[in-house]
Amino acid sequence: MKKIIAIGGSNSKKSINKKLASFVANQIKNTETIVADLNDYALPLYGIDLETESGIPENAVKLNELLESADGLVISLAEHNGSYSVAFKNAYDWLSRINGKVWKNKPMFLMATSPGGRGGATVLQTAKAGFPYLGGNIITDFSLPAFYDNFSETGITHEALAAELELKISEFSNAIHTL
Ligand SMILES: Cc1cc2nc3c(=O)[nH]c(=O)nc-3n(C[C@H](O)[C@H](O)[C@H](O)COP(=O)(O)O)c2cc1C
Repeated sequence: MKKIIAIGGSNSKKSINKKLASFVANQIKNTETIVADLNDYALPLYGIDLETESGIPENAVKLNELLESADGLVISLAEHNGSYSVAFKNAYDWLSRINGKVWKNKPMFLMATSPGGRGGATVLQTAKAGFPYLGGNIITDFSLPAFYDNFSETGITHEALAAELELKISEFSNAIHTL
């Protein structure tokens, strides 16, 4: 069975992005979902001196192996001051030192959500522009604004957004299954 790795780009234990990524990954039929929580891959703050002295941390190697094993990636990014959360950027930087193709050309469903009305649109734009340079194969993307108004454990409560997401899930699912 095809394997989807779902990642919330945050180290918040209650991450709304982890919730959205898990929810979406679980909608993709005939696949198994593995949710990678960044808290389970704790990493020291990236620095060239630390890397030179101590090498690549074991957790970065493990996370890289998990990404290698994926047939598809569902990533939802937290937005902190218009950019990646520190936890996500740190993991991203360590991963890029193992393999410049961080995302390994695996089909990716890229998302962002936030409690605000822009739904992490700025970080999503940044990632859309940058990920392709690091092996990102973005099949589709989705931003969910006002998370607490529009999301419930059973689905997206906003009709138009739910319809948009459903279409994008089926586009992503087709990409996974036609590999
Ligand atoms: C330091 C900090 C900066 C933030 N900056 C933004 C921002 O630029 N845009 C935004 O929509 N939300 C911002 N937020 C609110 C986050 O979207 C909110 O905390 C959200 O829950 C983060 O996602 P997560 O739950 O997956 O960690 C910020 C939150 C923090 C703690």
